[in-house]
Amino acid sequence: MPGVPIKDKTVLISGSNRGIGKSFAIQAVEMGAKKVYAAARDKSKLAELVEKYGDKIVPLTLDITIQDQVTAAAAAAGDVEVLINNSGMGGGGPMVGNPNPEGQRMEMEVNYFGMIKMCDTFAPILSANGGGAIVNILSVAGLSSFAFAPGYSASKAAGRSLTQALRVELRKQGTLVSGVFPGPVDTDMAKNVPMDKVSPDSVAVHVYEEIAKGSEDIFPDPFAEHFAASVQADFKAAEKANAAAF
Ligand SMILES: NC(=O)c1ccc[n+]([C@@H]2O[C@H](COP(=O)([O-])OP(=O)(O)OC[C@H]3O[C@@H](n4cnc5c(N)ncnc54)[C@H](OP(=O)(O)O)[C@@H]3O)[C@@H](O)[C@H]2O)c1
Repeated sequence: MPGVPIKDKTVLISGSNRGIGKSFAIQAVEMGAKKVYAAARDKSKLAELVEKYGDKIVPLTLDITIQDQVTAAAAAAGDVEVLINNSGMGGGGPMVGNPNPEGQRMEMEVNYFGMIKMCDTFAPILSANGGGAIVNILSVAGLSSFAFAPGYSASKAAGRSLTQALRVELRKQGTLVSGVFPGPVDTDMAKNVPMDKVSPDSVAVHVYEEIAKGSEDIFPDPFAEHFAASVQADFKAAEKANAAAF
């Protein structure tokens, strides 16, 4: 699939009020995007982006678990060429004896079913606009389970499989489908993860550089590159090493 440079493109980013999503919005403008639909559950949290970048930023209300809101966002953003499915959540607790099964269910609702809603609703728009790109923000946890985040890992593994399936289904409409597998990134989500972290800006820039080349699987930091290589070299050894590390 041909690469999709962000310059002069119209992009929509879910969860762009903070963390990696906010960096995706900022770096899109900095790298010359035509328009950025910055989506968030609470639109008022996008005020800083709007103040800084003016009408380059179009704020949208969007909870990706609510189909009516996804449909409304698509109706408002019919010129989208690059869709970045960034929204995500963790903290759902253990698989066995979980005191809060609702948290575990929400990991799948947001990280998997929400991603499906977005892809399904926006695929015809991308097709009408020349194919474009879908960029799904997954995690190294989707390559091999992290013991401290089992439900999150499962949801990201599901997202990885979804991304592979979409790649096949959307090939005929010319849509590049990329999966991004970050290691630890310095955001609210990882604040209690005692590991070295890269900046969210570095992840956003790396991803835009890679989709411009047509990359399908993106490992945006040294930990991710190393982790993916170890899984590829010996899946079982990586599983055991990962279990021992946490
Ligand atoms: N940080 C890491 O180490 C790391 C590593 C690998 C992958 N990732 C992935 O990177 C993505 C961004 O994470 P982050 O680190 O930037 O986390 P974050 O700072 O916790 O931000 C998460 C974003 O997702 C939004 N969100 C949550 N539920 C949503 C829903 N139902 N509908 C729409 N938006 C929703 C949040 O909105 P609210 O502000 O309204 O809650 C927030 O904007 C996620 O998919 C995450 O799994 C992160």
